[in-house]
Amino acid sequence: MRGILVVTAVAFVQSVIAGTNPHKTPQFQALPSLREQAKIVDGWTDERKALIPGILRKYGVDAWLISQREYAEDTVYWALKEATMFSARRRTTQLFLANATAEGAHSYTWIENTDLVWKELKAILDAHQPAKVALNTASELAFAGGLHAGERDVIADALGPDWAGRFVLEPMVAVEVVATMVPGRLPWYRKMMETAWAIIEEGFSGAVIAPGETTAWDVEWWMRDKIQALNYTTWFQPSVYILGKTDLPAAAAATTARGARRAMDDPRAPDHRISYGDIIHTDFGVTAMGLNTDTQHLGYVLYPGQTAADVPRSVVEGLKKANRLQDIVVANMEVGRTGDEILKKSLDQAHSEGIEGKIYCHATGEWGHSAGTVIGMTNLQDGVPVIGELPLLKNTYYSIELYAEHFVPERNMTIKFPQEEDVFWNDETKTWEWVYGQQTELILVHTTEKNVLRAQGEL
Ligand SMILES: *[C@@H]1O[C@H](CO)[C@@H](O)[C@H](O)[C@H]1NC(C)=O
Ligand SMILES: *[C@@H]1O[C@H](CO)[C@@H](O)[C@H](O)[C@H]1NC(C)=O
Ligand SMILES: *[C@@H]1O[C@H](CO)[C@@H](O)[C@H](O)[C@H]1NC(C)=O
Repeated sequence: MRGILVVTAVAFVQSVIAGTNPHKTPQFQALPSLREQAKIVDGWTDERKALIPGILRKYGVDAWLISQREYAEDTVYWALKEATMFSARRRTTQLFLANATAEGAHSYTWIENTDLVWKELKAILDAHQPAKVALNTASELAFAGGLHAGERDVIADALGPDWAGRFVLEPMVAVEVVATMVPGRLPWYRKMMETAWAIIEEGFSGAVIAPGETTAWDVEWWMRDKIQALNYTTWFQPSVYILGKTDLPAAAAATTARGARRAMDDPRAPDHRISYGDIIHTDFGVTAMGLNTDTQHLGYVLYPGQTAADVPRSVVEGLKKANRLQDIVVANMEVGRTGDEILKKSLDQAHSEGIEGKIYCHATGEWGHSAGTVIGMTNLQDGVPVIGELPLLKNTYYSIELYAEHFVPERNMTIKFPQEEDVFWNDETKTWEWVYGQQTELILVHTTEKNVLRAQGEL
């Protein structure tokens, strides 16, 4: 049965692509062999490492020292390792120089468990005499704060007070190294994003959802299995949530230990059967080849025989309002502005257009929530201390994540319409662009005869 459905879908897709339909149908994108993936990812890492001397010079730092013991890795370790390394080994120490001498290298790596590393490191430092040596000691920024306290003490002892006196904290060094997405990554990021869209679209279809029977958690676990079947992984449990549920059981109102009510993307939110006329939401991402995606889409479950024309207009308008809020944020994402400045400008503009909602955008790519400034957080709409004060960097990926409120008369309630979509910086046009697209139309769950019967308990 499934096989027949799939064949039909493929034929349909081809006719759409061949025709003039502007709506792309996302396809599952297969990954290359692990061996080929390692080669590709190592190429990207080499490009990233080549940027480091320039980044050090940009921030006026002469050297950057990273050191860790096996299993106590600095956060930055993961962005610099080779694909075939699964953790640091022994003591793994790296030194990067802004200005190498004519015959010297720009970087040195030791994997050592004796004092040899300190002797050799000291000799290189003595030869180059860097005035400022950056260490990853930030207290509020994970990507610039990965140096373990014990390791910092060992380094200071081993190098002595003269060198310890030249240690500095310049958090933007690690942030920019991790945040920068080299151009070669984009074609693969697009494929991964397309795969994420394709999984959501199949998950939000009559092939997976039988209204009255399938629950939100059934769809979440279907997504997990689908990710695995495609040889991808993920960085968070997908969530599927029915918007505007008024009949939440007592458990839904349960509060967490800190007293916060469970959010719609909290995987511990209660399970529900999906019904006809439901507005369904997912927060979903995939991981592969050292990249992570982050997407939130909306769907609508049609009653049997209904078409797009039957979707309540207010629901379509709710999505459009969220799209407008996304566009406002992207237009305000001027490189060099802080996340807090972008947040304020975006909220002011939204309010002036009569849009209420919340903005909580973040860097993505290397990590799901990657290095770089944030533009709001769900609980911080007046600015985010420290991280929101960083400048927005170019050549990065961002998740445009937010919700807009919209009154739905059919439900007599104001519903939050969430959306999330990743953008990348196009350095030629100097603009942010959607990695795969923007969800401007609801995903419609069409009911087939089969799942109508199952919903009525006749199968
Ligand atoms: C590196 O060399 C350049 C050119 O000689 C010099 O201007 C700069 O101060 C040096 N150090 C750093 C950290 O940029
Ligand atoms: C997943 O990996 C297995 C083992 O390498 C391979 O046989 C299979 O074709 C892959 N599946 C997809 C969808 O790429
Ligand atoms: C809509 O909801 C409001 C309060 O939430 C209530 O006062 C009003 O009676 C409701 N209207 C209808 C038609 O149910």
